Amino acid sequence: MVKKIYELPALPYGYEDLAPYISKEQLQIHHDKHHQAYVDGANAILQKFDSRPGLEFDVKAVAKELSFHVGGFLLHKLFWENMAPAPKGGGEPTGTLAQYINKDFGSFERFKQEFSQAANSTEGSGWAALTLCPVTDRLFIMQVEKHNINVIPNFKVLMVLDVWEHAYYLDYKNVRPSYVEAFWNIVNWEEVNRRIEIEILANSVNLVDNRRVLDMKLEEFKVNFDAWLESMK
Ligand SMILES: [Fe+2]
Repeated sequence: MVKKIYELPALPYGYEDLAPYISKEQLQIHHDKHHQAYVDGANAILQKFDSRPGLEFDVKAVAKELSFHVGGFLLHKLFWENMAPAPKGGGEPTGTLAQYINKDFGSFERFKQEFSQAANSTEGSGWAALTLCPVTDRLFIMQVEKHNINVIPNFKVLMVLDVWEHAYYLDYKNVRPSYVEAFWNIVNWEEVNRRIEIEILANSVNLVDNRRVLDMKLEEFKVNFDAWLESMK
């Protein structure tokens, strides 16, 4: 069986396309150097795993390193995808996502304020993340330190904002709040809405009959999802 490794994903837009909110130089170094470093870090650990047996390693240290590099790899991938150049990016969410934001935050403005606060107050290096709790079906803001600390297991990450200095220093120097404010002009709400709809679809199966998604045929899955949607009206 073929073993896979991590690969740097291409950006879904050009390096210059997020300007003036994120410059070409800033985006290029972030993607080509920093994201690549997490890919390389994760793959170096996979190489260690593939060298078993015969290689002694400190499992505790390796697990910690793995969490950091894979967390960095995955969060950056999500980050690129939850941004889009104007006019697609920016504005306000619509559809299911907008309904959930209103349900759980009261208004988009309140959500934006709380998410920005999470991003601005992250200590050192980290992320602000919008997540969905599969148990309560509520949106929560998660403040991730580094790439892996404070993460709640099994919460789907719907949207992230990288607030490591490497994400904004060339453009905004030490003024993180200006970068956080600029982010709202390039959020790809369509993608974030797609993520929440997929997650609700997956969770709906459990909510309807407590069976696992993978055990179900697609048609059965859709029927259950429709029933769940009906029950939410
Ligand atoms: Fe980053």
